[in-house]
Amino acid sequence: MFSTAFLDVPALQGASGTVTLPGSKSISNRVLLLSALCQGTTVVHDLLDSDDTRVMLAALRQLGCGVDVQGTTVTITGLGGQLKHHDAIEFFMGNAGTAMRPLTAALAVLGGDFTLKGVPRMHERPIGDLVDALRLLGCSIDYLGNDGFPPLHIGKPSLKVVAPIQVRGDVSSQFLTALLMALPLAAKTQDIVIEVVGELISKPYIDITLNLLARYGIAVQRDGWQRFTISQGCSYQSPGTIHVEADASSASYFIALGAIAEGDGIRIQGVGADSIQGDIRFMDAAAQMGAKITSGPNWLEIHRGAWPLKGITLDCNHIPDAAMTLAVMALYADSPTTLRNIASWRVKETDRIVAMATECRKLGATVEEGPDWITVHPLQSKQWKAASIHTYDDHRVAMCFSLAAFNADQAPVRIEDPKCVAKTFPDYFEALFSVAHSHTKDIPVICIDGPTASGKGTLASRVAQALGYHYLDSGALYRVTAYAALKAGLSLEANDEARISALARTLPVRFEGDTVWLGQEDVSDAIRTEQAGMSASKVSVLPAVRTSLVALQHSFQRLPGLLADGRDMGTVIFPDAPLKVFLTASAAQRAERRHKQLISKGISTTLDSLRADLEARDARDSSRSVAPLKAAQDAYQLDNSSLSIEASVDQVLTWWQAKQPF
Ligand code: DC
Repeated sequence: MFSTAFLDVPALQGASGTVTLPGSKSISNRVLLLSALCQGTTVVHDLLDSDDTRVMLAALRQLGCGVDVQGTTVTITGLGGQLKHHDAIEFFMGNAGTAMRPLTAALAVLGGDFTLKGVPRMHERPIGDLVDALRLLGCSIDYLGNDGFPPLHIGKPSLKVVAPIQVRGDVSSQFLTALLMALPLAAKTQDIVIEVVGELISKPYIDITLNLLARYGIAVQRDGWQRFTISQGCSYQSPGTIHVEADASSASYFIALGAIAEGDGIRIQGVGADSIQGDIRFMDAAAQMGAKITSGPNWLEIHRGAWPLKGITLDCNHIPDAAMTLAVMALYADSPTTLRNIASWRVKETDRIVAMATECRKLGATVEEGPDWITVHPLQSKQWKAASIHTYDDHRVAMCFSLAAFNADQAPVRIEDPKCVAKTFPDYFEALFSVAHSHTKDIPVICIDGPTASGKGTLASRVAQALGYHYLDSGALYRVTAYAALKAGLSLEANDEARISALARTLPVRFEGDTVWLGQEDVSDAIRTEQAGMSASKVSVLPAVRTSLVALQHSFQRLPGLLADGRDMGTVIFPDAPLKVFLTASAAQRAERRHKQLISKGISTTLDSLRADLEARDARDSSRSVAPLKAAQDAYQLDNSSLSIEASVDQVLTWWQAKQPF
């Protein structure tokens, strides 16, 4: 996840590949409970791993359900309507409404001696309407705290034939969902009719419930949104295998990406055209604008079709969330796009009509808006402006505006507060960068070169963190090369140059946070010794070794950008980098810093010997014939002898900022 203050998305050129989207929470917990109520085994694929699903899984285990978790595939061996354990069980529901409400209903019908509680906030969330409905049926439920709220005690029911069961629909649609999922258990000898009192909210979620019930063999007769009938004698049938769909609203960004970006197409894994989520209808709107979409079970494939896209006028009441993505697609169209019936945008995370209009205008677009509509005019080439997009703590604003980076004018887009995407899709930008590509020249590189112990590593990694960029410690590559050469019994001199360079060309080196791997070996500590630094300096003199490491170093230039530190980053490896810094500090200062570092690691040494070592290394690094240590002509000099790390980081960020168009 990007938790930086902002994320600069470079000009994007095209996109190809597959993205796997995270699963839908609502579907995950419904599927788990229904699988538990069946006879037999259900293999659930792509289950969402979240707090709420963990709560449900723990409860099912307590009831004696077979639960086998293998990554995101979970196999549930159902109870077949017969609880294995039903005495004195206490369930902890955390703050998971999607577990608390349906489990209460199912357990109340099955009966036992159960206590259900949760975190303090759960004890403030209403459940009274559901309890009232269940009591009408003969269920035994007592409040252990305040009336109308968890915690609850559930006993044995004496189920009776009843008139229609009434439940309120205007507080939470989860009450109705809970009854719909549990009452087939009580329908052995009678039809069960549920009547909704008041206007039913969140109807698409009831649709999800009905759809899933149908997949588990329970047909519910629906009369409008007021009356639901469960037929006598129905029973839960395991579908055998079921896939939890990915979130359809999240899919909209990648459907749009496929429609906008040149390339071999985008495949979305996890949700298909037959999705039971309302927002999947976004695909029809995208197709109307030009996207070519094909679909199979649990996947979608999108190619660019009409280009430019076609402007449309659309009533978006059925896809309010995903429709925001259309507003950004509209920028790439041949005529204006009007999205109508979107009054609900005004009362979401932010006033989304204002937000979309304001941010589209920053990109250069003309936008008109009304109480419940917005018209976005397209941008031609030479009209796009680089913009810093304010995101209003609204995940959807952040995600949809990242798509503006495909503009014809190669203008970068800054997304402020990118971590707001965590609400539904923490790894959204990682997913975007895994399929999007840029011209290499558009992927920014900041080079920090300088002598040993000048603090370039710390400075570069801090700046990388602040910008959300990748980090290349090129010195580590020379250190690992020397380590591997010594391990292979080679000398570090010119006579073994060819062999060392062959080793370097296929070096199985991997960086994982602060850990450096050479194949299966963690070499992080071994390559950090003074001795290893000296050895690195020796192999780095050999021209063939340097050449062998060039491609590896270039491979670090990936979206969204790179901080590279070393000796020749700005002069040889990334000569076109837009910012180069040459970092120096006096030899005395550097020796002192290194001394402190080593002492803190418990390694004893003297200042004098350290300084002599540093100077010897500087001399070798600066005097070698190939890529000697020297500042690039266009490098900014930074002497940090008397600067704190924070001050150095601020300086580099200030230089960087001054070069940005935002
Ligand atoms: O930055 P460092 O101390 O980890 O580097 C170890 C040695 O590797 C250094 O003495 C010189 C060499 N090196 C190089 O020649 N070119 C680079 N880009 C980085 C390091």
